[in-house]
Amino acid sequence: MYLLTLETSCDETAAAVVTDGLEIVSSVVASQDALHRRFGGVVPEIASRAHVERILPVIDEALARAELSVGDLDAVAVANRPGLPGSLLVGLVAAKAFCVALDIPLVAVNHLHAHIYACRLTAGPEVFPCVGFIVSGGHTSLFRCGGPLEFELLGATIDDAAGEAFDKVASMLGLPYPGGPAIQRAAESGDRRAHRFPRPFLKDRDRLDFSFSGLKTAVRYSIVGPGRQDFTQVQLTDGQVADLAASFEEAVVDCLAGKALRAMEKTGLDTLCVGGGVAANARFRRRLESEARRHKFKLHVAPLNLCTDNAAMGAIAVERLKAGLTESLELDVGR
Ligand code: KG4
Ligand code: ZN
Repeated sequence: MYLLTLETSCDETAAAVVTDGLEIVSSVVASQDALHRRFGGVVPEIASRAHVERILPVIDEALARAELSVGDLDAVAVANRPGLPGSLLVGLVAAKAFCVALDIPLVAVNHLHAHIYACRLTAGPEVFPCVGFIVSGGHTSLFRCGGPLEFELLGATIDDAAGEAFDKVASMLGLPYPGGPAIQRAAESGDRRAHRFPRPFLKDRDRLDFSFSGLKTAVRYSIVGPGRQDFTQVQLTDGQVADLAASFEEAVVDCLAGKALRAMEKTGLDTLCVGGGVAANARFRRRLESEARRHKFKLHVAPLNLCTDNAAMGAIAVERLKAGLTESLELDVGR
């Protein structure tokens, strides 16, 4: 059985073909980074227009690499929440069109659950039950995952997502979009203790929430001084950029790892699964590995190619299809 999975929740246009045995037959991702770079972040209107142009060529490419034609498809799955509404709509409308034309089932994918399922794809069914941690450009959320279809929210960011903070701080430091990889590179030669940035909620053992907006402001003040906005007068040296990047990255990693650890303690679960773009961060991955060794829990971090947005992780749709959870053509995009 072949499923076509579509992903257009943010700024990647992606399609994959997966089997009901969870084999990834093909996976194509068209990144829009170059379109958004000069704005320092994703511009929703540009993203949805680019999805419209790319969705059919990306689907064609996924089918071609799988050596299949549309008639071979048994179902179409699409990420319909959460994400940018205009972007999600492009994938949803494409998926519905295929389902109507081919008279095959439509399956809804929750994009956050799919990020966790990226760990299931590589590590096998024993990843459940687990604490699922999504750290991306749009979300920073901890879930108790009883199984592939059971997600209970434990905590989330109350303002910016971790990836969004990476992107905004990179822009302040004159580093390119997406900010995460650029900050990681700059931080390598920096002093992580050069600036002492805030770690909100870290000491509050009852809350599993995050906040990154104050951290972003703290970096701003370190660059221009309190109360001032204007970056144009400030010329940072490479060394200053490296120190700011390293100190910022350390503060984010402390918050992320600290709350993940607390979620493990609170739930009593013995497995942690981590996905989303920021899970590609080398410092974060290393910290998680050392915490897992120290506190003796099993850790699965999505492989690098499945951390950032992709359609292969939409294979979570196989679980829904097997459970009889298909959708009508009334399916809408959601938050
Ligand atoms: O999961 P993703 O592709 O999209 C969303 O669903 O949001 O995540 C994109 C985010 C961006 O904010 C990007 O800066 C961040 O992931 N990111 C990283 C790294 N690679 C990507 N953040 C920190 N370190 C990285 N190496
Ligand atoms: Zn994502």
